[in-house]
Amino acid sequence: MSIIVVLCFKAFHLTAPSTIFTTWVALGNYMNPSIFAATDHYIASLFASEDACLKETLRNNENAGLPEIDVSAVQGKLLQVFAKMCQARYVLELGTLGGYSTIWLARAIPEDGKVITIERNEEYARVARKNIENAGLIHKVDIRVGTAIEVLAELDTELSQSFDMVFLDADKPPYMQYLQWALRHSRPGTIIIADNVIRAGKVLDENSDDPAVIGVQQFNKALAEAAGVTSVVIQTIGVKDHDGMAIAVVDYPQHA
Ligand code: DHB
Ligand code: MG
Repeated sequence: MSIIVVLCFKAFHLTAPSTIFTTWVALGNYMNPSIFAATDHYIASLFASEDACLKETLRNNENAGLPEIDVSAVQGKLLQVFAKMCQARYVLELGTLGGYSTIWLARAIPEDGKVITIERNEEYARVARKNIENAGLIHKVDIRVGTAIEVLAELDTELSQSFDMVFLDADKPPYMQYLQWALRHSRPGTIIIADNVIRAGKVLDENSDDPAVIGVQQFNKALAEAAGVTSVVIQTIGVKDHDGMAIAVVDYPQHA
């Protein structure tokens, strides 16, 4: 088995991404993911233990039938680290779901800061509001119900300041539009994070007809080529599927 893996890894250096994708899918059956989940639990136990409130949030979400696509605890902590790195006071989140990541973010900003979070599903937004109220954070959170495209158009007319940090985690097909919007509402030093940009390696498939894959492929390319931004993507693996987060810091803004 290890010989096969070594041979495949050597071959990876010489092969086109789409071939790597096919090989990876074939290899996938032989990989044991439990080491990644166990390591994630180890990291979480040290750095990202969930208090009763975060645990209750996940329970409430499950009871309300929300999909279990929240960030992991370690990823929630990572969002806090980024928020503190840029001393975020004013944060935009696209895709509230049940408010789990919103709670991590709201806890990382000062009392007079604000997380504006957008959720298109009214029921999810109702569950999120309850979770955020239970966490004692509703004074720092502004939940907007509507599609991200609609709400961003509203915000365009009412905003007077740029965001310190933007977390993209809504539906994937318009990710590139979200990026362009975020860049227009940034200042030097604004941090932009985007979830789910690797999708278990499906981004390597140049012939994908999956709208979510196509959305993040367009996003990754646009981010890599964007002027005035320093950016990278890191793979994420752990209790959630293999995926990735794009991490970007704005060098100079793109005001239209
Ligand atoms: C999906 C969306 C997410 O934001 C996520 O983190 C995982 C999965 C999805 O739509 O499948
Ligand atoms: Mg996500």
